[in-house]
Amino acid sequence: MTVQRVPYHIAIVMDGNGRWANKRFLPRIAGHKVGVDALKRCAKACDARGVRVLTVFAFSSENWKRPSDEVSGLMDLFAIALAREVPQLNADGVQLRFIGERQGLSTRVLKGIQQAEAVTALNTRLVLNVCFNYGGRWDIVQAAAKLAAQGILPTEQHLSQAMALAHVPDPDLVIRTGGELRISNFLLWQSAYSEFVFVDTLWPDFDDAALAAAIASYAGRERRFGKTSDQLQLVNTPTRVG
Ligand code: FPP
Repeated sequence: MTVQRVPYHIAIVMDGNGRWANKRFLPRIAGHKVGVDALKRCAKACDARGVRVLTVFAFSSENWKRPSDEVSGLMDLFAIALAREVPQLNADGVQLRFIGERQGLSTRVLKGIQQAEAVTALNTRLVLNVCFNYGGRWDIVQAAAKLAAQGILPTEQHLSQAMALAHVPDPDLVIRTGGELRISNFLLWQSAYSEFVFVDTLWPDFDDAALAAAIASYAGRERRFGKTSDQLQLVNTPTRVG
């Protein structure tokens, strides 16, 4: 099976904001602020290239362990960015979804999330899933708990349907910026057959050219989903009629 040239769903670990700021002798939060601009640019670039779903890791279940000023700075930035950016995202046809544990978030952030989701609910151009207070293990556990509460057997299909990203197909391509070669508790269940691209580029510097390079790498790969290459060639060979 050859891959579609453009991935339907791209997921990104937006890493490197802190180092981007450090290199400029700026506070880490300055890197996160520029990170928001990079996210807006990336959403536009994804849309222009025909990607239909973009999922980003904005705040992990583990990020609470960061220094308290960085955590509160990120929460402020998140609330401010939502209030400021939602009208334009809405005008651009972006449907915003927030994926993660809502308990423990401030009323201000919760209100921003609820409003953003309500305002953009009917948009269909690009789904932007923002993973916030999210962890892949949290998602698997909450899905299993949901099934248990309903007395449903945890099959693969049932679990997939109970996961927080059940409204979109699994990511075709997962990109991690910032040079680290790990998954860091992102989309553990959903990335089972994703293609991965790791780049050294720090997230604030991730631009359309970097996105194009990641998509080109993806497009050159053969996705086998457990099958052999020969089996896939057979499926793709047109059968003669008559
Ligand atoms: C990782 O870089 C980045 C984060 C933990 C936060 C990412 C958040 C944004 C880009 C803002 C998102 C905002 C909205 C409104 C969705 P890091 O701090 O780990 O960088 P480092 O590895 O260089 O220290």
